[in-house]
Amino acid sequence: MRRKVAIIGAGNVGATCAQRIIERGLADVALVDVVDGVAAGKALDLSEAAPLEGHDCRITGSTNYDSIRGAQVVVVTAGMARKPGMSRSDLLEANAKIVGSIIPQVTANCPNAVLVTVTNPLDTMTYLAFKMSGWPKERVIGMAGVLDSARLRFFVAEKLNVSVQDVDALVLGGHGDSMVPLPRYTTINGVPITEFLPADQIEQIMQRTRDGGAEVVKLLKTGSAFYAPASSTADMVQSILNDEHRLLPACVWLTGQYGLNEVFCGVPVRLGASGIEQIVEVTVTADEKKALHTSAEAVRQDMKLVDALLAKS
Ligand code: NAI
Ligand code: 2OP
Repeated sequence: MRRKVAIIGAGNVGATCAQRIIERGLADVALVDVVDGVAAGKALDLSEAAPLEGHDCRITGSTNYDSIRGAQVVVVTAGMARKPGMSRSDLLEANAKIVGSIIPQVTANCPNAVLVTVTNPLDTMTYLAFKMSGWPKERVIGMAGVLDSARLRFFVAEKLNVSVQDVDALVLGGHGDSMVPLPRYTTINGVPITEFLPADQIEQIMQRTRDGGAEVVKLLKTGSAFYAPASSTADMVQSILNDEHRLLPACVWLTGQYGLNEVFCGVPVRLGASGIEQIVEVTVTADEKKALHTSAEAVRQDMKLVDALLAKS
């Protein structure tokens, strides 16, 4: 049976993620966008690149949700992106309306899929999707930690002039200004970065990671990052489709882990065909735990805004 991924929102992140998925030969892709012609045009363009890229994945584009039927994974990227000076939370109300209109179409057409949300503000949009879908917590997952950790890996590799392949890193918490990059879990082939850099330079890299999204927004001026977000999403989709059981940081519904209950927050998980197979509790120091709780509290405040919007609808 051919595998299929649905991607809602054929903008920068959605279309680039589709490109990554088909060019890795992972699955057919059904792109959906509310703007007539956008998904169809990008799907046609990507199809015409297939002979050159050497894959046989099929990609369709439509405004119609019939096209997503049978998808094993649904990725939601629809929504507004940040402009300079905007925080991710500034997008909450507008994007809640958009994501809120999409979830019923997803549950009707792909009732057994794993849902990966990308739209910002990430943690609260994942909460909205979880509440509206009524799906088990294992099948509603937000993408942010893979991206934030990739940024940290790149900054370390650039600073130390080592291969990105040798750098591992872990960023926990919400996908916001209070995310929690963990120097203790940042290593070069197993060697902690504390062996290579003094504390002040490590902190500079951690802060650049927290500001990673804003740094790109400031340069682009008209939108936000999409190449690294698309690759990050494709890694999660790949782990699900191939049942790879990869250990990746992801935004998930916590039920007591790390002392956090009933909140969406980024933590390491094992990701396979059924979605989240395990939430992994790594050892954190008292300071790291405090930072994680501060970050989760910021998400909790935004979740209350989502609850208020749901109560009004
Ligand atoms: P974009 O503006 O390029 O694309 C958004 C697309 O969504 C547009 O094509 C638009 O027509 C479509 N859309 C709007 N309403 C829709 C609806 N009701 N149904 C279907 N499609 C609809 O934006 P971009 O750069 O692709 O970003 C998308 C979202 O992803 C933003 O909210 C952005 O902040 C977020 N993002 C999140 C990241 C993360 O780490 N979680 C990383 C990068 C972006
Ligand atoms: C990012 O981190 C905008 O959330 C997006 O690039």
